[in-house]
Amino acid sequence: MRVHIADHPLITHKLTVLRDKTTPSPVFRQLVEELVTLLAYEATRDVHVTPVVVETPVAPYNGVKLARPRPIIVPILRAGLGMLEGMVKLLPTAEVGFLGIKRDEETLQPFTYANRLPDDLTGRQVFIIDPMLATGGTLIDSINYVFERGATDVTAVCIIGSPEGLAAVEAATHGREVKIVLGQLDEKLNEQGYIVPGLGDAGDRLYGTAQ
Ligand code: URA
Repeated sequence: MRVHIADHPLITHKLTVLRDKTTPSPVFRQLVEELVTLLAYEATRDVHVTPVVVETPVAPYNGVKLARPRPIIVPILRAGLGMLEGMVKLLPTAEVGFLGIKRDEETLQPFTYANRLPDDLTGRQVFIIDPMLATGGTLIDSINYVFERGATDVTAVCIIGSPEGLAAVEAATHGREVKIVLGQLDEKLNEQGYIVPGLGDAGDRLYGTAQ
């Protein structure tokens, strides 16, 4: 598993405002979108391309275009939806599938309650987006799900991660083509499974507490 933790003052600045509990939802949503666009640049570093020749006004140019089959972006409902706009800005030709995975607040175990993804992901590059890599349970389930359907490689883009979550994903995906791109790696998880210092419940901060 490869891990990239962004180390950039613009990302740290935006994350500082995002973490602030007084930041209102509209600003929070805007910041999430901006952060994803910055993280997506690194996340798409290995996106598959094929050679193409174009004519400039002066001479032929040997360039590339995004390869087929198209990459697929999978936001994990509900908080991952807040990252979708930023991600498709960078990968406008990607397809989008949805996975609804929720964790049981008592056992902290994830369960799948919604799925809108092709059954066959053979040869597809998958970009999973979920703001918080906490216990890692949701991400492990999502990664297993897309690999079982034939995906070739998976990149997860998360805004904040925990050391416990990273270690769990590493152990569960050993030997497979997985890359994790994080805005920042925080200190730890608390007993309720929240990232410390974190930003609280990302879904609530994006969309409020209506379930
Ligand atoms: N999910 C969140 O939204 N926040 C956390 O801190 C952990 C999981």
